[in-house]
Amino acid sequence: MATRSEILGALGLLPVWRRRAEFQSSPSEVGADESEAAPTPATVDEPPDEALRRAHIAALTWPSFAADVDACVACGLCRSRNKSVPGVGDVRARWLFVGEAPGADEDAKGEPFVGQAGRLLDNMLAALGLARGRDVYIANVLKCRPPNNRTPAPLEVDACRPYLDRQIALIAPKIIVALGKSAATTLLNVDASIASLRGRVHRYCGVPLVVTYHPAYLLRNLPDKAKAWEDLVFARKALA
Ligand code: URA
Repeated sequence: MATRSEILGALGLLPVWRRRAEFQSSPSEVGADESEAAPTPATVDEPPDEALRRAHIAALTWPSFAADVDACVACGLCRSRNKSVPGVGDVRARWLFVGEAPGADEDAKGEPFVGQAGRLLDNMLAALGLARGRDVYIANVLKCRPPNNRTPAPLEVDACRPYLDRQIALIAPKIIVALGKSAATTLLNVDASIASLRGRVHRYCGVPLVVTYHPAYLLRNLPDKAKAWEDLVFARKALA
């Protein structure tokens, strides 16, 4: 991990200006002439540590990405999970699928969508003529499993979001498919139902984004599979 001053330097934030009070020298340390000559630095607060963490993540490259996710302690989930689940696939993929968070199978393997919902996702990909790792990247909003698969807390989403943002910037996909409400509302920054978000081409930083149902939901609501298929065909058209 880059040091604090390396990050500040890369961001053009050096030298760090501190509040004058932090620097007040005793009269014996500063002669009268020196104190007259020394310019008073403008009062600019240092970026807080969170801003540095975000700047560090925004500068990550693939070789260090997974290790950085694995070392993250920004929310409490790192304490209860087994493996972090950064994402999997073709880093030059045109298609990016984003789910919610790892479940038990993903947490054990360190790979997204490897359980029952993952098998359905693989079938959906195959129906489109795609396959995991071939022109497809799969990621989640959260990189660590929430205990008992509970819904991600807003603080966890907020803490993990810079990693997803960085993945999207590095992959530069041509289409994003948001699988379920967590992915859709996180990426679109809205609070809305899947039903109201389906059937339209949204944008994430200019990249077309289509919303569909989460595969785990489809396993419980089989009739909606037909709607998910419509969404994928719609996404393929948006990509074309
Ligand atoms: N559900 C998700 O949202 N992501 C996974 O990786 C597995 C299940």
